[in-house]
Amino acid sequence: MAKPVVIVLSIIALNVFYTAFAFGPIPLQDFCVADPTSSTRVNGLPCKDPATVQADDFFFSGLHLPGNTTNPFGAALTPVTVTQVPGLNTLGLSIARLDFAASGFIPPHTHPRATEILVVLEGSLEVGFITTNPGYKNFNKVLEKGDVFVVPLGLVHYQRSVGTGNTVAIAALNGQNPGIIAVPSAVFGAEPAINSDYLAKAFLLDKKIVEELQAKF
Ligand SMILES: *[C@@H]1O[C@H](CO)[C@@H](O)[C@H](O)[C@H]1NC(C)=O
Repeated sequence: MAKPVVIVLSIIALNVFYTAFAFGPIPLQDFCVADPTSSTRVNGLPCKDPATVQADDFFFSGLHLPGNTTNPFGAALTPVTVTQVPGLNTLGLSIARLDFAASGFIPPHTHPRATEILVVLEGSLEVGFITTNPGYKNFNKVLEKGDVFVVPLGLVHYQRSVGTGNTVAIAALNGQNPGIIAVPSAVFGAEPAINSDYLAKAFLLDKKIVEELQAKF
C-alpha cells in the first residue's frame, strides 16, 4: 500500500479505537476526590490532596429512608451524586432513590450525561423512554418488585406509579453528575420565557393556553 493510504487508514483505525473508549475511560489515579473549596475550573471537580482523603469521602448514609412524597408530583428523588459523595468525582457513576405515593410520577425528563438502570424494590412503576429511531416510539414497561429497566443515554423518559401503595426504586446512572432536564419546565418555565406565539405554533395550542402554562411553571 502507498504510504499516504496507510497513514489515512491508521488515523481511521485510531479514531475507531478512541470512539470505542469515549465512555468509561480508565482513571489516571486510584481516585480524585472532589475538592469543593477549589476555585480551579476543570471538567468535573479538582482533586483533594490524597493525603487528606478519608473513608467518609466515599460514603453516604440514608438511602433506607423514604423521600417525602407530599408534593404535587407525589414523588421524591434522593440523589447520591458527586455532590453528596465527593469520592465519585471522575468515576462516572451515581445512584438515587425514587419514592412514589400512589399515582405519583416524575414528569418526562432527560439526563443529558448518563444512561440509567433502575430496579423496583416495592410497588408497581411504569417506565418509558422515547426514541429518535424508530422516531418517537415509546418503549415502556410496568415494573414490579425485582424488575429492572434501562433508559439509554439522553433519551426523554418518564416514571409513573401504577400501584395502590407506595413504590420504591433505586436508579444507578453512569455519570457522577447526570443532570436532569424536565421537559415541561424546560419548555414552559424557561427564563427568560420562550416566545409564546412560537410555543403556540409548536404545540398546536391557543396562545392563551401557552401563557397559562407559562404562568404555572
Ligand atoms: C413533607 O413535605 C410537606 C410539604 O412540604 C411538609 O408539610 C411535611 O412536614 C414533610 N414531612 C416530613 C416528614 O418531613
